[in-house]
Amino acid sequence: MKVIVLGSAAGGGFPQWNCNCPNCNGIRKGTIQARARTQSSIAVSENGDDWLLINASPDILAQIRATPELQPERGIRDTGICAVLLMDAQIDHITGLLMLREGKPLPLYCTPSVWDDLSNGMPVAKVLSHYCGVTWHPVTPVKALGNEPRIQIPGLANISITALDLKSKAPPYSPHRDNPQVGDNIGLLIENTSTGRKLFYAPGLGQIEPHINSAMSSADCVLVDGTLWTQDEMIRLGLSKKTSADMGHLPQSGPGGMIETLDALGARRKILIHINNSNPILDENSNEAAVLRRHDIEVAFDGMEITL
Ligand code: MLT
Ligand code: MN
Ligand code: ZN
Repeated sequence: MKVIVLGSAAGGGFPQWNCNCPNCNGIRKGTIQARARTQSSIAVSENGDDWLLINASPDILAQIRATPELQPERGIRDTGICAVLLMDAQIDHITGLLMLREGKPLPLYCTPSVWDDLSNGMPVAKVLSHYCGVTWHPVTPVKALGNEPRIQIPGLANISITALDLKSKAPPYSPHRDNPQVGDNIGLLIENTSTGRKLFYAPGLGQIEPHINSAMSSADCVLVDGTLWTQDEMIRLGLSKKTSADMGHLPQSGPGGMIETLDALGARRKILIHINNSNPILDENSNEAAVLRRHDIEVAFDGMEITL
Protein backbone atom coordinates (compact mmCIF):
# COMPACT_ATOMS: atom_id res chain seq x y z
CA MET A 1 0.00 0.00 0.00
CA LYS A 2 1.34 3.38 -1.01
CA VAL A 3 0.28 6.68 0.52
CA ILE A 4 1.18 10.02 -1.08
CA VAL A 5 0.81 13.23 0.88
CA LEU A 6 -0.69 15.59 -1.71
CA GLY A 7 -1.01 18.50 0.71
CA SER A 8 0.31 18.92 4.23
CA ALA A 9 -0.90 22.37 5.34
CA ALA A 10 -4.04 23.39 7.23
CA GLY A 11 -6.69 25.70 5.75
CA GLY A 12 -5.03 28.67 4.00
CA GLY A 13 -1.93 26.69 2.97
CA PHE A 14 1.61 27.95 3.51
CA PRO A 15 2.30 30.76 2.90
CA GLN A 16 -1.27 32.01 3.29
CA TRP A 17 -2.30 34.65 0.73
CA ASN A 18 -3.04 37.42 3.24
CA CYS A 19 -0.68 36.52 6.08
CA ASN A 20 2.48 38.24 7.27
CA CYS A 21 3.17 36.09 10.33
CA PRO A 22 6.89 35.30 10.84
CA ASN A 23 6.57 32.04 8.86
CA CYS A 24 4.57 33.37 5.89
CA ASN A 25 6.70 36.48 5.69
CA GLY A 26 9.89 34.45 6.22
CA ILE A 27 9.24 31.94 3.42
CA ARG A 28 8.21 34.73 1.01
CA LYS A 29 11.40 36.68 1.72
CA GLY A 30 13.61 33.57 1.89
CA THR A 31 14.74 34.43 5.44
CA ILE A 32 13.69 31.08 6.94
CA GLN A 33 14.36 27.54 5.80
CA ALA A 34 10.92 26.11 5.06
CA ARG A 35 8.89 24.43 2.31
CA ALA A 36 5.67 25.84 0.86
CA ARG A 37 2.71 23.53 1.43
CA THR A 38 -0.74 23.05 -0.09
CA GLN A 39 -3.89 22.22 1.89
CA SER A 40 -4.21 18.79 3.43
CA SER A 41 -5.07 15.72 1.40
CA ILE A 42 -3.62 12.26 0.83
CA ALA A 43 -4.00 9.56 -1.84
CA VAL A 44 -3.85 5.83 -1.15
CA SER A 45 -3.37 2.97 -3.62
CA GLU A 46 -2.64 -0.72 -3.67
CA ASN A 47 -1.90 -1.27 -7.38
CA GLY A 48 -0.40 2.14 -8.22
CA ASP A 49 -3.12 2.91 -10.82
CA ASP A 50 -6.30 3.28 -8.78
CA TRP A 51 -6.16 5.86 -5.99
CA LEU A 52 -8.51 6.77 -3.18
CA LEU A 53 -8.40 10.52 -2.64
CA ILE A 54 -8.87 11.28 1.04
CA ASN A 55 -10.19 14.83 1.33
CA ALA A 56 -10.43 17.07 -1.73
CA SER A 57 -8.43 20.21 -1.13
CA PRO A 58 -8.99 23.52 -2.94
CA ASP A 59 -5.42 22.93 -4.23
CA ILE A 60 -6.35 19.61 -5.89
CA LEU A 61 -5.50 20.63 -9.46
CA ALA A 62 -1.98 21.72 -8.50
CA GLN A 63 -1.63 18.57 -6.41
CA ILE A 64 -2.66 16.34 -9.34
CA ARG A 65 -0.20 18.17 -11.64
CA ALA A 66 2.58 17.55 -9.12
CA THR A 67 1.74 13.82 -8.83
CA PRO A 68 2.18 11.87 -12.12
CA GLU A 69 0.92 8.69 -10.38
CA LEU A 70 -2.60 10.19 -10.46
CA GLN A 71 -2.69 10.16 -14.30
CA PRO A 72 -2.29 6.54 -15.50
CA GLU A 73 -3.13 7.48 -19.16
CA ARG A 74 -5.52 4.60 -19.90
CA GLY A 75 -7.72 6.66 -22.22
CA ILE A 76 -8.22 10.06 -23.84
CA ARG A 77 -9.93 11.14 -20.62
CA ASP A 78 -8.65 9.37 -17.51
CA THR A 79 -7.71 9.80 -13.88
CA GLY A 80 -6.16 7.60 -11.26
CA ILE A 81 -8.69 8.89 -8.71
CA CYS A 82 -11.27 6.10 -8.41
CA ALA A 83 -13.13 7.43 -5.35
CA VAL A 84 -13.09 10.23 -2.79
CA LEU A 85 -13.44 9.83 0.97
CA LEU A 86 -14.14 12.89 3.12
CA MET A 87 -13.24 13.04 6.81
CA ASP A 88 -15.18 16.21 7.57
CA ALA A 89 -16.95 19.00 5.68
CA GLN A 90 -14.33 21.72 6.25
CA ILE A 91 -13.68 24.01 3.29
CA ASP A 92 -10.05 22.88 3.04
CA HIS A 93 -11.24 19.26 2.64
CA ILE A 94 -14.26 19.50 0.32
CA THR A 95 -14.03 22.37 -2.15
CA GLY A 96 -11.66 20.41 -4.43
CA LEU A 97 -14.68 18.28 -5.38
CA LEU A 98 -15.85 21.15 -7.58
CA MET A 99 -12.59 20.92 -9.55
CA LEU A 100 -13.31 17.28 -10.45
CA ARG A 101 -16.59 18.14 -12.22
CA GLU A 102 -15.34 17.29 -15.74
CA GLY A 103 -14.95 13.61 -14.87
CA LYS A 104 -17.25 10.60 -14.50
CA PRO A 105 -19.79 10.42 -11.61
CA LEU A 106 -17.72 10.55 -8.44
CA PRO A 107 -18.03 7.75 -5.88
CA LEU A 108 -18.07 9.74 -2.64
CA TYR A 109 -17.63 8.15 0.78
CA CYS A 110 -18.64 10.23 3.80
CA THR A 111 -20.77 10.10 6.93
CA PRO A 112 -24.45 11.19 6.95
CA SER A 113 -23.43 14.27 8.95
CA VAL A 114 -20.89 15.38 6.31
CA TRP A 115 -23.39 14.54 3.54
CA ASP A 116 -25.91 16.80 5.30
CA ASP A 117 -23.41 19.71 5.17
CA LEU A 118 -22.65 18.96 1.49
CA SER A 119 -26.37 18.94 0.72
CA ASN A 120 -27.41 22.01 2.74
CA GLY A 121 -24.86 24.26 4.50
CA MET A 122 -22.44 24.13 1.55
CA PRO A 123 -24.43 22.33 -1.17
CA VAL A 124 -21.48 21.08 -3.21
CA ALA A 125 -23.29 17.77 -3.89
CA LYS A 126 -26.30 19.61 -5.34
CA VAL A 127 -24.07 21.82 -7.49
CA LEU A 128 -22.16 18.78 -8.78
CA SER A 129 -25.41 17.06 -9.77
CA HIS A 130 -25.45 19.53 -12.71
CA TYR A 131 -21.96 18.36 -13.79
CA CYS A 132 -20.52 14.88 -13.14
CA GLY A 133 -22.80 14.02 -10.21
CA VAL A 134 -21.71 12.18 -7.10
CA THR A 135 -22.76 8.77 -5.84
CA TRP A 136 -22.90 8.83 -2.06
CA HIS A 137 -21.65 5.80 -0.15
CA PRO A 138 -22.57 6.32 3.53
CA VAL A 139 -19.76 5.78 6.04
CA THR A 140 -20.65 4.62 9.55
CA PRO A 141 -18.11 5.70 12.14
CA VAL A 142 -17.52 3.46 15.16
CA LYS A 143 -16.71 4.26 18.79
CA ALA A 144 -14.84 1.03 19.45
CA LEU A 145 -12.66 -1.40 17.54
CA GLY A 146 -13.82 -5.01 17.23
CA ASN A 147 -16.24 -6.32 14.65
CA GLU A 148 -16.63 -2.93 13.02
CA PRO A 149 -17.92 -2.57 9.45
CA ARG A 150 -15.01 -1.98 7.06
CA ILE A 151 -15.05 0.30 4.05
CA GLN A 152 -13.99 -1.56 0.93
CA ILE A 153 -13.30 0.63 -2.11
CA PRO A 154 -13.57 -1.04 -5.55
CA GLY A 155 -10.07 -0.80 -7.09
CA LEU A 156 -8.30 -1.01 -3.71
CA ALA A 157 -8.53 -4.80 -3.37
CA ASN A 158 -6.40 -5.49 -0.30
CA ILE A 159 -7.12 -2.29 1.58
CA SER A 160 -9.70 -2.22 4.33
CA ILE A 161 -10.68 0.96 6.13
CA THR A 162 -12.29 1.57 9.51
CA ALA A 163 -13.85 4.97 10.22
CA LEU A 164 -13.65 6.08 13.85
CA ASP A 165 -15.80 8.77 15.34
CA LEU A 166 -13.63 11.44 16.97
CA LYS A 167 -13.84 14.81 18.61
CA SER A 168 -12.81 17.80 16.52
CA LYS A 169 -15.14 20.45 15.02
CA ALA A 170 -17.66 20.77 12.21
CA PRO A 171 -16.94 23.76 9.95
CA PRO A 172 -17.92 27.29 11.02
CA TYR A 173 -20.70 27.39 8.35
CA SER A 174 -22.24 24.12 9.55
CA PRO A 175 -25.35 23.96 11.77
CA HIS A 176 -23.37 21.23 13.59
CA ARG A 177 -20.58 23.63 14.64
CA ASP A 178 -22.08 24.17 18.11
CA ASN A 179 -24.33 21.13 18.00
CA PRO A 180 -21.90 18.26 17.41
CA GLN A 181 -23.15 15.15 15.57
CA VAL A 182 -21.59 11.71 15.34
CA GLY A 183 -19.64 11.69 12.08
CA ASP A 184 -18.83 15.42 11.87
CA ASN A 185 -15.20 14.34 12.02
CA ILE A 186 -13.68 10.91 11.64
CA GLY A 187 -10.27 9.25 11.89
CA LEU A 188 -9.29 6.37 9.62
CA LEU A 189 -7.50 3.13 10.30
CA ILE A 190 -6.32 2.03 6.86
CA GLU A 191 -5.08 -1.56 6.72
CA ASN A 192 -3.14 -3.32 4.02
CA THR A 193 -4.71 -6.75 4.50
CA SER A 194 -1.89 -8.50 2.63
CA THR A 195 0.82 -7.25 5.02
CA GLY A 196 -1.34 -6.49 8.07
CA ARG A 197 0.26 -3.02 8.22
CA LYS A 198 -1.91 -0.11 9.31
CA LEU A 199 -1.96 3.65 8.95
CA PHE A 200 -3.94 5.82 11.37
CA TYR A 201 -4.92 9.10 9.73
CA ALA A 202 -6.59 12.05 11.47
CA PRO A 203 -5.77 15.57 10.18
CA GLY A 204 -8.33 17.02 12.61
CA LEU A 205 -8.09 15.53 16.08
CA GLY A 206 -9.16 17.46 19.16
CA GLN A 207 -9.16 14.84 21.87
CA ILE A 208 -7.50 11.46 22.41
CA GLU A 209 -10.43 9.30 23.53
CA PRO A 210 -9.71 5.68 24.55
CA HIS A 211 -10.87 4.17 21.21
CA ILE A 212 -8.66 6.66 19.34
CA ASN A 213 -5.71 5.77 21.53
CA SER A 214 -6.32 2.06 20.78
CA ALA A 215 -6.46 2.73 17.05
CA MET A 216 -3.27 4.82 17.20
CA SER A 217 -1.54 2.12 19.29
CA SER A 218 -2.45 -0.55 16.73
CA ALA A 219 -0.97 1.41 13.80
CA ASP A 220 2.49 1.06 12.25
CA CYS A 221 2.33 4.68 11.15
CA VAL A 222 0.29 7.55 12.54
CA LEU A 223 -0.37 10.65 10.44
CA VAL A 224 -2.11 13.11 12.73
CA ASP A 225 -3.20 16.66 13.45
CA GLY A 226 -0.22 19.02 13.50
CA THR A 227 -2.19 22.25 13.20
CA LEU A 228 -0.80 24.34 16.07
CA TRP A 229 2.11 24.15 18.50
CA THR A 230 0.28 25.89 21.38
CA GLN A 231 -3.34 26.55 22.38
CA ASP A 232 -3.01 30.33 22.05
CA GLU A 233 -0.60 30.50 19.08
CA MET A 234 -2.95 32.37 16.74
CA ILE A 235 -4.10 34.73 19.50
CA ARG A 236 -0.53 35.63 20.50
CA LEU A 237 0.41 36.35 16.89
CA GLY A 238 -2.68 38.56 16.48
CA LEU A 239 -4.07 36.29 13.74
CA SER A 240 -7.31 35.12 15.36
CA LYS A 241 -9.30 35.11 18.59
CA LYS A 242 -9.63 31.33 18.55
CA THR A 243 -7.69 28.81 20.62
CA SER A 244 -6.61 25.49 19.16
CA ALA A 245 -9.41 23.80 21.15
CA ASP A 246 -11.99 26.24 19.72
CA MET A 247 -11.02 24.93 16.27
CA GLY A 248 -11.01 21.26 17.34
CA HIS A 249 -7.25 20.70 17.15
CA LEU A 250 -5.02 19.24 19.88
CA PRO A 251 -1.82 21.32 20.06
CA GLN A 252 1.57 19.61 20.07
CA SER A 253 3.16 21.09 23.18
CA GLY A 254 2.24 20.85 26.85
CA PRO A 255 0.72 18.19 29.10
CA GLY A 256 -1.71 15.93 27.24
CA GLY A 257 -0.56 17.43 23.93
CA MET A 258 0.22 15.56 20.73
CA ILE A 259 3.94 15.07 21.49
CA GLU A 260 3.13 13.40 24.81
CA THR A 261 0.48 11.26 23.08
CA LEU A 262 2.87 10.17 20.32
CA ASP A 263 5.69 9.45 22.79
CA ALA A 264 3.54 6.75 24.39
CA LEU A 265 3.02 4.90 21.08
CA GLY A 266 5.09 2.08 19.61
CA ALA A 267 4.38 3.12 15.98
CA ARG A 268 7.40 2.97 13.66
CA ARG A 269 6.56 6.32 12.11
CA LYS A 270 4.86 9.29 13.75
CA ILE A 271 4.09 12.12 11.36
CA LEU A 272 2.29 15.46 11.77
CA ILE A 273 0.08 16.76 8.94
CA HIS A 274 -2.39 19.66 8.47
CA ILE A 275 0.18 22.16 9.72
CA ASN A 276 -1.07 25.72 10.14
CA ASN A 277 1.11 28.43 8.61
CA SER A 278 1.61 30.00 12.06
CA ASN A 279 3.18 26.81 13.51
CA PRO A 280 6.88 27.31 14.40
CA ILE A 281 7.69 23.71 13.32
CA LEU A 282 7.49 24.89 9.69
CA ASP A 283 10.76 26.77 10.23
CA GLU A 284 13.23 23.89 9.94
CA ASN A 285 15.77 25.73 12.12
CA SER A 286 13.36 26.52 14.96
CA ASN A 287 13.68 25.13 18.48
CA GLU A 288 10.26 23.52 18.05
CA ALA A 289 11.37 21.63 14.92
CA ALA A 290 14.39 20.41 16.91
CA VAL A 291 12.09 19.22 19.72
CA LEU A 292 10.12 17.12 17.20
CA ARG A 293 13.34 15.60 15.82
CA ARG A 294 14.37 14.61 19.36
CA HIS A 295 11.01 12.85 19.78
CA ASP A 296 11.33 11.07 16.37
CA ILE A 297 8.28 12.92 15.08
CA GLU A 298 8.29 13.82 11.39
CA VAL A 299 6.56 16.77 9.73
CA ALA A 300 4.70 15.82 6.53
CA PHE A 301 5.52 17.71 3.35
CA ASP A 302 3.81 17.76 -0.05
CA GLY A 303 4.99 14.76 -2.06
CA MET A 304 5.96 12.66 0.98
CA GLU A 305 5.44 8.94 0.36
CA ILE A 306 4.65 6.26 2.90
CA THR A 307 4.74 2.54 2.07
CA LEU A 308 2.96 0.08 4.34
C1 MLT B 1 -9.47 23.71 10.31
O1 MLT B 1 -9.28 22.53 10.18
O2 MLT B 1 -9.77 24.24 11.40
C2 MLT B 1 -9.31 24.52 9.06
O3 MLT B 1 -8.10 24.33 8.44
C3 MLT B 1 -10.17 25.62 8.86
C4 MLT B 1 -10.31 26.08 7.44
O4 MLT B 1 -10.25 25.30 6.48
O5 MLT B 1 -10.49 27.28 7.24
MN1 MN C 1 -8.59 22.15 8.14
ZN1 ZN D 1 0.97 32.99 8.32
